[in-house]
Amino acid sequence: MDLQLTGKKALITGGTRGLGYAVAQTLLTEGVSIAINSRDEAHVEAALKDLSPFGPVFTARGDVSVPAAAEEVVHTAARQLQGLDLLVTNSGGPRTGRFETFSVDDWQQAFQLTFLSHARLIHAALPYLRASAAPSILTITSISAKQPIPDLILSNSLRAGVLGLTKSLALELGSEGIRVNSILPGFTLTERADSLLADRAKKNNTSIEEEKLKQIDASALKRIATPQEFANVAVFLLSPAASYLTGAMLSVDGGMVKGLL
Ligand SMILES: NC(=O)c1ccc[n+]([C@@H]2O[C@H](COP(=O)([O-])OP(=O)(O)OC[C@H]3O[C@@H](n4cnc5c(N)ncnc54)[C@H](OP(=O)(O)O)[C@@H]3O)[C@@H](O)[C@H]2O)c1
Repeated sequence: MDLQLTGKKALITGGTRGLGYAVAQTLLTEGVSIAINSRDEAHVEAALKDLSPFGPVFTARGDVSVPAAAEEVVHTAARQLQGLDLLVTNSGGPRTGRFETFSVDDWQQAFQLTFLSHARLIHAALPYLRASAAPSILTITSISAKQPIPDLILSNSLRAGVLGLTKSLALELGSEGIRVNSILPGFTLTERADSLLADRAKKNNTSIEEEKLKQIDASALKRIATPQEFANVAVFLLSPAASYLTGAMLSVDGGMVKGLL
């Protein structure tokens, strides 16, 4: 199947490591020009060096939880790419903890990172996407929005809001041909996953390996996903090959969520 991505232009925030990096690399191999973003200059430079052999890569460093920075990232990327067809809104996950772990300020910070960053990036990108022949937005959320994960109350609460945003925007923008979808990753082998396993081992007085086995057992496929397995679905959703898909909230979780929807 031809994904019809050749020549498209994409911004992937949080694109220097983990899930975002895998999406960035896969888009490049499909002939897409990309701009990647993250906060740390060393991460940006390392990703630029690793990804450049695959195709045209630009960079737009900035913290997407900071209002002005999120907008600047979009404008910088669109200027370098000379337009924008595809937007992937993604960043690091919120802190782990239970309800009483967090102050109101912690909630405000998590809201900026885990909810508002998506809204701001999309808001800034809309004028560029409106000028595209095949515009597509993908929000990266979490299965925590469907099935709350212990000790991740910030994610459990705020990701659901991003799904509401995704669905609402799909309805508002559909008549303009702008598709808006979300992927809810299950457990996928990245640095974020490593740090969650380490937190659980510490809390439960177990080893990281034991916590990993529990996670493996929680999925129907009895293994943890690779970032590439996530990226394959993401790139399809972004592509014109998925032209009748909008408002979809797709769990890529190996069968971890046990509900029907
Ligand atoms: N991996 C999983 O199993 C899993 C499961 C469910 C949901 N998720 C969610 O999916 C998202 C991506 O996960 P991941 O596993 O790829 O995480 P990761 O391995 O921690 O990578 C996060 C990426 O985002 C960048 N980043 C972090 N905070 C940022 C910010 N404020 N502004 C711009 N860039 C930022 C990081 O680079 P810098 O440090 O240089 O900024 C890095 O490139 C997270 O929200 C995570 O919670 C992951």
